[in-house]
Amino acid sequence: MSNAPEMIANLEKLGDEFLAVIRPLADEQSIRAAQAQFLGKKGKVSELMKELGRLPAGDRPLVGAAVNKVKQTIEDQVQSRLVELADAVARQDLARKVDVTLPARPIGGGHLHLLTQVRLEAVQIFAELGFVVAEGPQIETDWHTFEALAIPKDHPARDMQDTFYVSEEIVLRTHTSPVQVRTMLTQPPPIRIVAPGHVFRRDDDPTHSPMFTQIEGLAVDVGISFADLKGTLLHFVKRFFQRDLGIRLRPSYFPFVEPGAEVDMQCSFCMGSGCRVCKGTGWVEIGGSGMVDPEVFGLCGVDAEKYTGFAFGMGLERMAMLRHAVNDIKFYYEGDIRFLEQF
Ligand code: PHE
Repeated sequence: MSNAPEMIANLEKLGDEFLAVIRPLADEQSIRAAQAQFLGKKGKVSELMKELGRLPAGDRPLVGAAVNKVKQTIEDQVQSRLVELADAVARQDLARKVDVTLPARPIGGGHLHLLTQVRLEAVQIFAELGFVVAEGPQIETDWHTFEALAIPKDHPARDMQDTFYVSEEIVLRTHTSPVQVRTMLTQPPPIRIVAPGHVFRRDDDPTHSPMFTQIEGLAVDVGISFADLKGTLLHFVKRFFQRDLGIRLRPSYFPFVEPGAEVDMQCSFCMGSGCRVCKGTGWVEIGGSGMVDPEVFGLCGVDAEKYTGFAFGMGLERMAMLRHAVNDIKFYYEGDIRFLEQF
């Protein structure tokens, strides 16, 4: 005849026994089999429970609780052993798949767009000469873009420029020269600014895009001469192309400078001996320049008796094309990663 303390001790022993049984088991199937051996209908715990009925009624709750406890212990053991096994399998998988000795795959980092690189380099070169960066709006008034630069409404230069009009008085700026105007109106000489930025013209072919980038320069001070203009541009070209290239200033007309000149540099492809890029001439045009017209000084509130100044405007796409042998301006704007990655 069993008694309660003996049964409880036996139940606890079963718990320990189960632990010893499953510890060495290494697959789910045998763990489940062991679980059935203890908790199944004909399992060891069930066998013990049969004796429950033979106990005095007062002892049954105590022993019942011990039964539940051992069942719970066994369930918990099964659960934690299965989790352990799954972890071990996952670790093995990892060890098989990850060879930590392999060289790391390169992380594809981005970089600055070619035009941004070129713009920053150009600004840096002028900054070393004492120029600071100035900015102006891309959507600009007709007055700042044309009138204040001595380009009246009926001036043929307005056709040349092929302007996008937002309204009668508002345009997309066709050049960065309105930044000259804004600077002179807001700060007294001495002035030394460069203004890189987007400009817009109704143009579209392999060397022209409806949106492109210029860098404007303006220096106003007592005694500024044409020689200063030439020296500045020559220094810039040599630094930017990192070669001993010459420049020439070819007389030309812009309403806001007098005298005005087109800026040519020796072809960086053939070093001036003549090739396809320079169409055999040895020279390529990179921008416009000149001495600020006294009329513009008048319109912008600068004393033309006291000050003189030079100005220039260059196309950054053109210069990047010459330096990096880019043969279609569209490449800059298409966002094709195969192009962008080369720089
Ligand atoms: N703004 C002129 C252009 O876009 C270039 C230029 C700038 C000419 C400054 C002279 C002086 O064509």
